[in-house]
Amino acid sequence: MENENVGAEVKLIDLNKKYGETKALDHLSCEFHRGEMIVLLGPSGCGKTTALRALTGLMQVDSGQIIVNGRDITMMNPAKRNMAMVFQQYSLFPNMTVQENVEFGLRVRKMPVEQRTRKAREALEMVGLADQASKYTHQMSGGQQQRVALARALVLRPEVLALDEPLSALDAKVRVQLREEIRRLQQQTGSTALFVTHDQEEALAVADRIGVMKDGKLQQLAEPWRIYNEPANEFVATFIGESSRIPAVIRDGVALVGDQQVPVLGTSSKRSNGKATILVRPEAVQLQLAVEETRNAENCGTVKEIQFLGSTAKIQVEMVSGTALTAQINPSEAMVLVPGQRVSIQIEPKAVLAVARDENPARANPIKIVKKGSALAPAAV
Ligand SMILES: Nc1ncnc2c1ncn2[C@@H]1O[C@H](COP(=O)(O)OP(=O)(O)OP(=O)(O)O)[C@@H](O)[C@H]1O
Ligand SMILES: [Mg+2]
Repeated sequence: MENENVGAEVKLIDLNKKYGETKALDHLSCEFHRGEMIVLLGPSGCGKTTALRALTGLMQVDSGQIIVNGRDITMMNPAKRNMAMVFQQYSLFPNMTVQENVEFGLRVRKMPVEQRTRKAREALEMVGLADQASKYTHQMSGGQQQRVALARALVLRPEVLALDEPLSALDAKVRVQLREEIRRLQQQTGSTALFVTHDQEEALAVADRIGVMKDGKLQQLAEPWRIYNEPANEFVATFIGESSRIPAVIRDGVALVGDQQVPVLGTSSKRSNGKATILVRPEAVQLQLAVEETRNAENCGTVKEIQFLGSTAKIQVEMVSGTALTAQINPSEAMVLVPGQRVSIQIEPKAVLAVARDENPARANPIKIVKKGSALAPAAV
C-alpha cells in the first residue's frame, strides 16, 4: 500500500467526561497533526482509554468538541468516523479465518468481494502474514494475532488509528519488534495515530509527541526529548524517568547547591528567589573521589550503595544534608567506589525543574538501603 497521506488533523477542545464523581476527562484540549504518532502515558485510571473512546466515538463526552479536518464530529456516529481501533485483547472473530477477519470491516462497508479480497491481502502482506490468511486465530501466537488486528485496522485506511495498549499482552521481545512495525506501518500509511501505553520506553521510542495525563488532565504534550529534559511540572518530571530531589536556593533563575550553580527551567513553578527543591536526573550527577577541603560541605556525600547494571552503574549517595541522591555513571568509574566512601558531587549545569521546597527532604527522598548481608549492603559509617 502506498502512502496516500490519509492522516487527519485532530483538535480536541475542552473535552469533559464524568463517571459519578470521577473526572475521566477534565478540560482536555490538544491538537494532533496529520500523520503524527501521539503516545498517551499516565497512571492507571488517568483517562487514556476514555480519551481514545471519545475520539473514536465509542463514548459520548459530556461537553467539548472534537474537530477532524476542520469538521465538528462530536456527535457523529462512530461507524461514520473514518477511524480504527486496536485493543490490548486482540478481539478477533474466532469463527473467521485471518483473511475474513481482515475483510470484515470492508464487508460491512459493502465493498465488492474482489476489491476487498485484494485489499485484505495487501494489508496482510504489510504485517507479514500473507501466507497465514487461511488460518483461524487460535492457530496463531499472540504477536501474530495482534498483527491480524493491526491489518484489520489498517485495511480501512483510517485517518485516525487508535491503539489502546496494543502490546501489553505480549512478551518483551515481541513487543519491541511489533512496536517498530507499528511505527513503520503508521508512517507508511500516513494515519494520524493515538497510541496508549504504560511503557515509558515504548513511548519514547515510537512517539512524535508524548501526552502525559493525570486525573483526566493533560499535563504536557511535547516531543519525547522535551518531556524528559523540559518537564512542564513536577508530575511529568517524576513520572517520566528518574530524578533526585535536592534542596537548593534559587537566585535569579539559578539554583545554588553549595558552591554549584544549576540553571532553572522556565517551566519551573518555583522560580522566585528563595528555598526550593530541584529535580536532578541521575546522569547529570558526577562523583569524584578526592574531596577538596575547600569545597562546600553541601557538595559532598557518602556512598551508600553501588549497583552495576552492565553498561552503566547506579550509585546511591547520601548528601551531607541527609538528602538521597542517585548518580548514573560509567561502570569503570564506579569500580573505584566503595560504600562508606566520601565523595565530591558535581551536578551538570543543565537546566532543571525547581519546585516548592519539601519540608523534610530526607523524608521526601528517602535513601533505599538494601538488607544487611547482601553484596550491596552499605558499610557502616
Ligand atoms: N464505564 C465506566 N463507568 C464508570 N467509570 C469509568 C468507566 N470508564 C472509565 N471509568 C473511570 O474513569 C477513569 C478513567 O478511566 P480510563 O479507562 O480512561 O483510564 P486509563 O487511563 O485508560 O487507565 P488504565 O491505564 O488502567 O487503562 C477511571 O477512574 C475509571 O474508573
Ligand atoms: Mg486504559
